[in-house]
Amino acid sequence: MYGMVNRAVEDLVCTNFGEEKWEQIRQKAGVEEEFFVSNEGYPDALTYRLVGAASEVLGLTPEAILMAFGEHWILKTAREGYGDLMQAHGRTMPEFLSNLPNFHTRVALLFPKLQPPRFEVSDSTPTSLHLHYHTHRLGLEAFVVGLLHGLGKMFETPVTVKQIGFRGADLDHAIFLVDWSAGPAAA
Ligand code: HEM
Repeated sequence: MYGMVNRAVEDLVCTNFGEEKWEQIRQKAGVEEEFFVSNEGYPDALTYRLVGAASEVLGLTPEAILMAFGEHWILKTAREGYGDLMQAHGRTMPEFLSNLPNFHTRVALLFPKLQPPRFEVSDSTPTSLHLHYHTHRLGLEAFVVGLLHGLGKMFETPVTVKQIGFRGADLDHAIFLVDWSAGPAAA
């Protein structure tokens, strides 16, 4: 994955737990680089090692780290670094979600070697939808939940997210029920 992902993990840890903890995590994960270059590619395994080491050092489950990372990605990385791109994809939670299937096509113009996830929307109602998440990567469902909660905060629209489809013998992707019936969009 592009270095900006690892940089965002570093930023999440340093902001919330301090640089000393980051140094411990970096060493435990066996990262030799002093810093990550945003637009350079790194092995996915390195990012997974960072999440595993963060889980051990901070005493949180990998899922909790991934969820926090998802929120941080939206509220800090995306909003501060790519505000125009975020705004161009919707002014409300439902609008943004309906545009999510196209989102990484735009991101890929900035990062040509991107291996993005693929999203599809189905079963839309005025206050909910099913979000289908396709990827060749394993174990990032909690990241998606965190991303969706981050979007809810960004749009000041409380959301509930429930995974209703699981990758396995019968299904090749995950499905999330996203519901914002308690939010301003429902008013
Ligand atoms: C400006 C905002 C965004 C940027 C710049 C961005 C960029 C990226 C980058 C660089 C990666 C790593 C993949 C690679 O390097 O090959 C990635 C992965 C990912 N992105 Fe985005 N992204 C953004 C917003 C979003 C949003 C809004 C969502 C969904 C709500 C999302 C969902 C994901 C997921 C789930 C992955 C993990 C990779 C996988 O599942 O295979 N991203 N994105």
